[in-house]
Amino acid sequence: MLNKQGFDLWADGYDKTVQISEENNQYPFAGYRLILNTIFNKVMERDAARVLDIGFGTGVLTSKLYENGHLINGVDFSTRMIELAREKMPMANLVEGDIADGLPEELKIADGLPEELKIAGYDFIISTYALHHLTDEAKVEFIKELLPLLAEDGEILIGDIAFRTRQELEACRTNSLEFWDHDEFYFVFEELESMLSGICYCKYEAISHCGGVIELTQK
Ligand SMILES: C[S@@+](CC[C@H](N)C(=O)[O-])C[C@H]1O[C@@H](n2cnc3c(N)ncnc32)[C@H](O)[C@@H]1O
Repeated sequence: MLNKQGFDLWADGYDKTVQISEENNQYPFAGYRLILNTIFNKVMERDAARVLDIGFGTGVLTSKLYENGHLINGVDFSTRMIELAREKMPMANLVEGDIADGLPEELKIADGLPEELKIAGYDFIISTYALHHLTDEAKVEFIKELLPLLAEDGEILIGDIAFRTRQELEACRTNSLEFWDHDEFYFVFEELESMLSGICYCKYEAISHCGGVIELTQK
């Protein structure tokens, strides 16, 4: 699995790697743009939304939201990714931190806002292609930490390498042969839903043969 240094090295070539995999409709990035667009369109349904992006990378998605007037907060552990994202979003609140240790304290309230709005919570907590670096148990613990940070009608939107069932994941693994990354933990929606049962509502939209968007809302 890539660590902080690995992502620092990958940062400058990241967008190109994604584009090639996506254009060939191949694991891991098949459907990448559609997945990001799905999340973009959901956020765009509101004006000036308070957004927290987990693992924003080069800022492909968040910079578009930033340009459209949304209030961007984010965490990433790669210094180089943050530099690239900051060039596109100079006024965004971008924090360096490792989500394996939970969310950095300074993001536990929506920042970049007038004082009186700071405790309102995030309208959207989004994450694309970052949470598969956490084990399934760690994902659930992290999601439990994020849910109380949502505004009353807020949503968590996760776009990632994902499958509805374990069988679909196994089929993709078989087809991807030597390209499969055995160190990553991809979402299996049915399993996540069962681990979060009683905690939040879960919805899944499959977008490609190896990716989709998971929507989590408070009960
Ligand atoms: C594959 S990139 C995805 C970037 C972007 N969200 C996108 O959709 O293109 C994964 C991002 O998550 C970050 N990341 C991975 N593990 C992380 C961790 N434990 N804590 C914080 N950021 C992490 C990486 O630095 C990288 O920027």
